[in-house]
Amino acid sequence: MHISILGGSGFLGRKVAARLAADGQLGGRDITALSLFDIVPPTAPAARFPVHCVGGDIAALPDAAIPDGTDVVFHLAAVVSAAAEADYELGRRVNVHGTEAVIDRCRRLATPPRVVFTSSVASFSGGQAAKLADDARQVPANSYGSQKAAAELFLADASRRGFLDAVNLRLPTVVVRPGRPNKAASGFFSGIVREPLLGLATDLPVPPDFVVWIASPRRAVDWLLHAASIATTTMGVDRGINPPGLSVTVASILNALDAVRPGASALVRRVFDPDIEKIVAGWPATFEQLRARSLGFQAHEPLVELVRAFVADDLEATRQERGLA
Ligand SMILES: NC(=O)c1ccc[n+]([C@@H]2O[C@H](COP(=O)([O-])OP(=O)(O)OC[C@H]3O[C@@H](n4cnc5c(N)ncnc54)[C@H](O)[C@@H]3O)[C@@H](O)[C@H]2O)c1
Repeated sequence: MHISILGGSGFLGRKVAARLAADGQLGGRDITALSLFDIVPPTAPAARFPVHCVGGDIAALPDAAIPDGTDVVFHLAAVVSAAAEADYELGRRVNVHGTEAVIDRCRRLATPPRVVFTSSVASFSGGQAAKLADDARQVPANSYGSQKAAAELFLADASRRGFLDAVNLRLPTVVVRPGRPNKAASGFFSGIVREPLLGLATDLPVPPDFVVWIASPRRAVDWLLHAASIATTTMGVDRGINPPGLSVTVASILNALDAVRPGASALVRRVFDPDIEKIVAGWPATFEQLRARSLGFQAHEPLVELVRAFVADDLEATRQERGLA
């Protein structure tokens, strides 16, 4: 099978590519080729199958990004939350027009591919107190969430028309993000674990009892791969899935950090930031997730495992990338 990853240079794109390279198969079928596409030229992981790297803008999608014969497209390319809020045109071009370009390309393939799209918890609102049902309406409170919800609708309609076969995964905030801080409003949820583990001080812009819906990178990748191989026949026109994340307080994240590295949370300074809080406080912190479980999406591991996984998978590479001794 031929797989394409759009956003193949990003955090999750690189992790999906590495996992596919290591597994050599997806859903029991051998991988014969992988295409990586990104505006930042992608780097191929070592693999038993050919890996084609294509640079370019998703809004002007070259055919080589989704070659003829592609079976599965992971559509992860995006302008993330705070960046999409700061630059309306850029967010709409990449997150909406980019998705339209993906649909147009898939329409021209001989066989409709599975498209796994990363939507977001940010496509909902409701705030801290909300527990959202699987069929809860998406009422976004920021441009990024609106663009994700719009892209979901286009992909669901394209599925109904038979142009492609979409699964729209509304990912929780993925923690711990390796490397450098990014422009996502939710970036500090990773920062409060990553930075102290690097020996660096970091700011916490919300109170310790703030509740957030999170997932580990390992589990997010598991879900993406699962979404690529499930039967969509029972999903009907509703292609959205709220995967089974974890609803946790900031204080419990810091406790898990201290369980792995005693005293590390002393490096977290409480510096309230009303602009960041305004964005993240709108996102619901708990989901019902019955649909995801019935479709076989794996439950989340405990919080302390999430911190240990960052140490095992990404801490050393992050240290090197940032030139820290
Ligand atoms: N990481 C999270 O916490 C999280 C949570 C919910 C949803 N998501 C979604 O998951 C996906 C992957 O997230 P991530 O954390 O890996 O993000 P990321 O920012 O690391 O990766 C996104 C990639 O898209 C690429 N990109 C941006 N503009 C592009 C363009 N015009 N053309 C081609 N490529 C372009 C970027 O270069 C980047 O490599 C995104 O769609 C994001 O919205 C992420």
